[in-house]
Amino acid sequence: MRLNGKKNAAKAALAERPAPPQPHALVPRHVAVIMDGNGRWAQQRGLSRNAGHRAGTENIRRIIEAFGERGVEVLTLYAFSTENWTRPRREVNALMRLIPRVLQREIKELHKNGVRLVHIGKLDPLDEGLQAKVRDAIDLTKDNDRMTVALAFNYGGRDEIVDAIRRMVEDGVAAERVDEALVSSYMYTAGLPDPDLVIRTAGEVRLSNFLLWQSAYAEFYATPAYWPDFDEMEIDRALDAYARRERRFGGVEPANGQHQRV
Ligand code: FPP
Repeated sequence: MRLNGKKNAAKAALAERPAPPQPHALVPRHVAVIMDGNGRWAQQRGLSRNAGHRAGTENIRRIIEAFGERGVEVLTLYAFSTENWTRPRREVNALMRLIPRVLQREIKELHKNGVRLVHIGKLDPLDEGLQAKVRDAIDLTKDNDRMTVALAFNYGGRDEIVDAIRRMVEDGVAAERVDEALVSSYMYTAGLPDPDLVIRTAGEVRLSNFLLWQSAYAEFYATPAYWPDFDEMEIDRALDAYARRERRFGGVEPANGQHQRV
């Protein structure tokens, strides 16, 4: 009787779990994640916000690898936005210590697994020691080609566009030369495909200045799960939802070749 109960519970858990994307289904080439809800996760447990951020880093390597195992080539993680500077000083300082520490902790294993790290955003205004840690991780992994992780750290979408325009002007680009491809080449993400899927955790449904130019045709997926609870089951749910979407890029026919717009 008890055994049956256990069996039924296992069956129910399996039924709840979405089927992993089928081999023929479309897997997004580039997934970008807005990791939200660390603070609420901590608050629910009577912990400090910083404890929530720490919890949000515990599974980070496993999440990266899980996306890679499912065929995702590029994963962008929104770790710190240009707007996050308005948070209390203590929290900003804690994040500035935590992010490079996590990089140092995880980078060797990621390197072994063929992950290349790139950075998007502005490193220059940050503490020099911190910059060095990020640059070392980028340098260590620069020749890897199994998967790319773009760390959005001190990143803002509008800031990126302003920066691109400034550099175009500085380069003396003639107005008639400006087209979408040229603008893309001035973005921090130059050389990377546009995101196919943007995932946001913790139930909010907004872009928050994330990849504004690049997300023009991205599918958006929101989950109520707080970031520290985001796991492989959540990944499969998001990829499964993506595989069921019809992407038409402004046309009327579903575009099977969604990787064309790179
Ligand atoms: C948003 O939650 C989360 C952040 C601003 C920080 C996210 C950063 C990490 C998880 C570290 C990642 C590190 C690497 C190296 C990838 P919130 O504080 O806005 O949560 P709330 O909305 O519930 O308050």
